[in-house]
Amino acid sequence: MTELVMIKDISQHVGETVKIGAWLADKSGKGKLQFLQLRDGTAFFQAVVFKPNFVEIYGEDEGSAKFDEIKHLGQETSVYVIGVVKEDERSKFGYELDVTNVEVIGTSQEFPITPKEHGTDFLLDHRHLWLRSKRQMAIMQIRNAVIYASYKFFQENGFIKFDSPILTGNAAENTTELFETDYFDNPAFLSQSGQLYLEAGAMALGRVFDFGPVFRAEKSKTRRHLTEFWMMDAEYPFVTHEESLDIQEAYVKEMIQSVLDNAAYALEVLERDTTKLQKYVITPFMRVSYDEVIDILNAHHGEDDANYELLKHGDDFGSPHETWISNYYGVPTFVVNYPASFKAFYMLPVPGNSERVLCADLLAPEGYGEIIGGSARETDYDLLRKKIIDFGLDPKDYDWYLDLRKFGSVPHAGFGLGLERMVTFIAGTDHIREAIPFPRMINRIKP
Ligand code: 4AD
Ligand code: MG
Repeated sequence: MTELVMIKDISQHVGETVKIGAWLADKSGKGKLQFLQLRDGTAFFQAVVFKPNFVEIYGEDEGSAKFDEIKHLGQETSVYVIGVVKEDERSKFGYELDVTNVEVIGTSQEFPITPKEHGTDFLLDHRHLWLRSKRQMAIMQIRNAVIYASYKFFQENGFIKFDSPILTGNAAENTTELFETDYFDNPAFLSQSGQLYLEAGAMALGRVFDFGPVFRAEKSKTRRHLTEFWMMDAEYPFVTHEESLDIQEAYVKEMIQSVLDNAAYALEVLERDTTKLQKYVITPFMRVSYDEVIDILNAHHGEDDANYELLKHGDDFGSPHETWISNYYGVPTFVVNYPASFKAFYMLPVPGNSERVLCADLLAPEGYGEIIGGSARETDYDLLRKKIIDFGLDPKDYDWYLDLRKFGSVPHAGFGLGLERMVTFIAGTDHIREAIPFPRMINRIKP
């Protein structure tokens, strides 16, 4: 282990001399003082260099020379900074460092992302450097807290991690959004969701989950869509659709609570309204049917904030509908029993109503929209095979998936959570592109 102290842990070292490895995010000064804004990836805080202290430690000549060197350090110079930790109410972080030495490790000049405002394209072109900004650090810390909470939730609730392949021979969701690639002269696709493989896993191991990158050739340019994103799928046998919603609700609540507990600094940096997050943890989520939602949308149509098109029962929601609904209830809301016509082939029909399926989208509040898609799965071999054909798919591609209905088929259900959608919602940010280190969108594959 290194002797270096991480900035996030600085409160445990008040009064001590510590060494920090950091980058110079910004600096200002007047007269005998230099204020260094340091960042080490865990947090930002201020180090103060006072010239008379340097003169006292190093003598007049060397002390002055060192002070002048610090004055001319460029943004993003990497440094070891040694100093004494002081509690300081004026500093936003609550602590400061009284610097006794600065060792330059790597110089830096004209860092392109200055503390002023920059346009989105410029920032995305410099994503490899933009990641160093305070806001981006905070979002990545929240992403990490969400991932950690996911693994913890599943491991503690009897789920086994079951990795699904990324190269596949069949579409899991919508065939119009498949990335195709050449696989030794045969077509293959990048996975859209691990679900179908997880169903095989559930029949072998019981409760299973996966967590990995998935791909959708989404032509839509919205603040909610990426072409490469991370999905957490879970699947469980002997579980009803209602019980499946209970699992999802417990999971989402635990993730929010875990971020509140473990990423408080990041939430503060982002100025997230945490009272709202706390409310979502303690309030039961809403559960409403697709048909009720259509009626509510149409009843409010034309009101000031309801600028969306009227819908008929059977129509899919557009982005404006989803945004409005997700504001309306004020808590995460499961919209259940959508029309079979625009949902995937594997969903189980609502008993007595073959036009609706036992599925749910979980809509996050505050206009964030869908964060989870899930359903109960068709268990009957013949009905599933017919659905595959009706959806224009070739049952030969799904023979292995159909087998799961031949050998001890059981009721089962599952869901998939979009990690970046969840992070965007918890972090309270505007656009999904900031929720993943290197976003892939319709017009962007670099850096
Ligand atoms: O609703 P989706 O398409 O559901 C499935 O893929 C199921 N097979 C999951 C399952 O039952 N195991 O996708 C699941 C979630 C969505 O709710 C959304 O959060 C996210 O994945 N998602 C996207 N996130 C970012 N960019 C995109 N283009 C996304 N498409 C879906
Ligand atoms: Mg969906």
